[in-house]
Amino acid sequence: MSKSRAKVALPSRDFRLYGRLMSYVMPYKWYFILGLALVGLFALTTPAVAVLMKPLLDGSFVERDPRYILWTPIILVILFAIRGIASYLHGVCMSWVLGYVVYDVQLAMIDRMIALPTRFYDEFPAAQIMQRISADVNELADTASTVVITVIRESLTIIGLLVWIFILDWILSLTLLIATPLIAMLVSFVARRLRVLYRDFMQMGGQFLAHLQEVTAYHRLVKLYQKQDYERERLRRYANRVRQLKLKQAVANHVTIPAAEFISTVVIACTVYFSLTRDLTDPLTVGGFVSFMAALALISSSLKKLLRINEMLQRGLVAAERVFFLIDQNTEVDEGQRSFADGKVAGHIAFDNVSFMYSKSSKSSLENVSLQIDARQTIALVGSSGSGKSTLTSLIPRLYELQEGTLTIDGVDVRDYTLAQVRKQVALVSQDIFLFDDTVAANIAYGDIDNTTDEKIRAAAKAAYALDFIEKLPDGFDTMIGERGVRLSGGQKQRIAIARAFIKDAPILIFDEATSSLDTTSEFQVRKALDALGVGRTVIIVAHRLSSIEKVDRICVLHEGQIVEDGTHRELMALRGHYYKLYTVYSEEL
Ligand SMILES: Nc1ncnc2c1ncn2[C@@H]1O[C@H](COP(=O)(O)OP(=O)(O)OP(=O)(O)O)[C@@H](O)[C@H]1O
Ligand SMILES: [Mg+2]
Repeated sequence: MSKSRAKVALPSRDFRLYGRLMSYVMPYKWYFILGLALVGLFALTTPAVAVLMKPLLDGSFVERDPRYILWTPIILVILFAIRGIASYLHGVCMSWVLGYVVYDVQLAMIDRMIALPTRFYDEFPAAQIMQRISADVNELADTASTVVITVIRESLTIIGLLVWIFILDWILSLTLLIATPLIAMLVSFVARRLRVLYRDFMQMGGQFLAHLQEVTAYHRLVKLYQKQDYERERLRRYANRVRQLKLKQAVANHVTIPAAEFISTVVIACTVYFSLTRDLTDPLTVGGFVSFMAALALISSSLKKLLRINEMLQRGLVAAERVFFLIDQNTEVDEGQRSFADGKVAGHIAFDNVSFMYSKSSKSSLENVSLQIDARQTIALVGSSGSGKSTLTSLIPRLYELQEGTLTIDGVDVRDYTLAQVRKQVALVSQDIFLFDDTVAANIAYGDIDNTTDEKIRAAAKAAYALDFIEKLPDGFDTMIGERGVRLSGGQKQRIAIARAFIKDAPILIFDEATSSLDTTSEFQVRKALDALGVGRTVIIVAHRLSSIEKVDRICVLHEGQIVEDGTHRELMALRGHYYKLYTVYSEEL
């Protein structure tokens, strides 16, 4: 375990966490206060039972006073009726409030997750985000309600009981003061240990989940490379580490109650000895003594409940830390105010001296790129793998923020527009095809969910040369295509993605050709679909199959993040430079 992780949160950080959680309680404060009042009422009934012991014994047993004999049991019954009702109501009330608090926290997390920059997703494993939004929030929900109710109820009970024993015999009650710091020290020690262990546990759980997710998603790869044993062993190691961490938690946690019990028993034993050997003019009555002992026993039982909650509290706090970590992430920068005059741009794009690197430590993926694309022009972007083609295209819809240089659409810096406005202008069919585990129709409609109709979906599918195969699917447009479209072929997936771009009907179209090769028929169909989609739009085609772009008016060649050549196929071939090399290698491979 690294040193920094072994460091424990300062109490002030805990208070900040409580404070933040309380800010989520504020909208429901009246219900919360009502819940607290009911908890308080419940808590008071416990000392009342101890108090009743005295008249019960002194009045009914010793003096046999008929009034006491009649009223004590009646009061006892009333007391327990109040206790039962208060217990039920505070349970319902608090669960209601905390249910909403957790729901609001979850909504805040979802809001944040949706608005996170692409860069965050590049660096932070998706499984960890999912774990925080599902498991951690529920952990928070489960622990918060129990912790709040128990801490308040048991602390109030203990305070009430302490007041009573102080009234009964203050000298005796002072003996308790010896136990308090001892138990407090024990609890805080265990709390620190548990906190560290929980952090590690959740971290490990996240890694386990991420790995599980990969192994299930890539099960074909695992089979093809015969890595079943290897993966089984890796997963077993995760499971074993999780088991060990759980055991360590149990070891730390289970020491609390026996140790605290031992401390309190020693204190009770001292108290008994002390009270029986003391020589006083006004000794405790039998009832007083029994009542005192009953109060001690009740304190001990409440204390046990409080100690048990310590473990839960630490778990909840770790969950809260993880939840707020996500909520505290910066969202995408969206400071632009402008929107396009008539809702759509003409589609003139200009990169001016743009440089870009994914992280400070890596080398530039783009260097001083200047590129002008006229409105409604089609250009092809070519270059060897890793030359920066996808990077360049992802800057247009502002998936990443520019670091140097400017990018304008129709002469206006993209940062001056709102994000929503820019993204509305761009339809990007990316190199990896993203499809949802939903129907074909729903995946196409995703391009414009609000205004789409069955006819539009059909027309888009037709234009994308996808109608034929869709109609042959078992349920046509209603066929479920499986996770990431596993039930479709590569070319079919691409055409669905193109149909989705059709529906979006944006003035700028970017097609980042998938590198997986398609058969000639599929390629031909995809190309035709693209030609149809490109009419009247600014089109950027990132091409790997150079044969298909020979007819494109303009070809730009990227090499190591820089634009090195720009012209028609014929011009570039004549140059005998980068394009010529790419093309000859490509032709030889055919
Ligand atoms: N998300 C990312 N985080 C960090 N580095 C990245 C990321 N995406 C790409 N890179 C790096 O940026 C450089 C350019 O990558 P890019 O994806 O733009 O290449 P490309 O020209 O599209 O290649 P290909 O033809 O293989 O698709 C590469 O060196 C790559 O390692
Ligand atoms: Mg690429």
